[in-house]
Amino acid sequence: MRPMSVDPNRPRAARIYDHYLGGRHNFAVDRAVAARALALIPDLPRIARANRAFLHRAVRYAASRGVRQFLDIGSGIPTEGNVHEVVPSAKVVYVDVDPTAVVHARQILAGDPSTVVVQADLHDAEQILGDPQAKALLDFTRPVCLLLVAVLHFVPDTPELRAALRTYRDALAPGSLIVLSHATGEVGDLADLYTRAGTPMVLRDRGELAGLLEGWDLVEPGVVHGPAWHPDEPVADPEAYATLAAVAVRP
Ligand SMILES: C[S@@+](CC[C@H](N)C(=O)[O-])C[C@H]1O[C@@H](n2cnc3c(N)ncnc32)[C@H](O)[C@@H]1O
Repeated sequence: MRPMSVDPNRPRAARIYDHYLGGRHNFAVDRAVAARALALIPDLPRIARANRAFLHRAVRYAASRGVRQFLDIGSGIPTEGNVHEVVPSAKVVYVDVDPTAVVHARQILAGDPSTVVVQADLHDAEQILGDPQAKALLDFTRPVCLLLVAVLHFVPDTPELRAALRTYRDALAPGSLIVLSHATGEVGDLADLYTRAGTPMVLRDRGELAGLLEGWDLVEPGVVHGPAWHPDEPVADPEAYATLAAVAVRP
């Protein structure tokens, strides 16, 4: 895939999301899309924070199974509670297609020997898995936790996506985990807005999300709304967060 460039005149998903989370790594064009999105769904910052909370619970779950190697694809602009902060003994390869995310991640993580930052598109699975720094950090003969959190709703269902998902599954050792979260149909207007702004969004339902997990065994309770996945405390209205989430194990 062609590498993306830093273009301050075109909105980018990573920078819009950074704005929802209160970050400063975004441009006027991103904030303009975010303002329109917030007019449609004022709860977006709460939804984004709940997604981060799911990511943290899933990462702690992986650590509880003894998995301390993470491949975080679509990792975004680093914000509070990155994977290596949630599990301090973790080794983490952060991957994003967006150069803003990659530049800031490299600045923040400079000199940290337990992390590597790679700029790549998730479709380029062989490039990511074969990256010399990633290969030096992660031991692919042992289980790895693959994180695809809030990223696949920017990726249409194509043979290339299916092939990439198969490549990750086949490359990862038994006992590896895959962690997904994904926007649901309740945010159809948001998807239209993002798509018109040049950041196409694809919504998937429970069955479609489960369909992306071919060859993986779903961890209980399966594909559920994000806040309902292994909650720290009960959440009254998990479906209000318009996010589905799942964790699965490589048999
Ligand atoms: C909404 S953010 C999610 C960030 C983080 N995973 C989280 O959940 O907090 C989505 C990220 O996916 C990245 N992304 C979108 N399409 C991608 C692709 N094809 N390959 C790699 N990253 C991609 C975007 O640049 C953005 O940083």
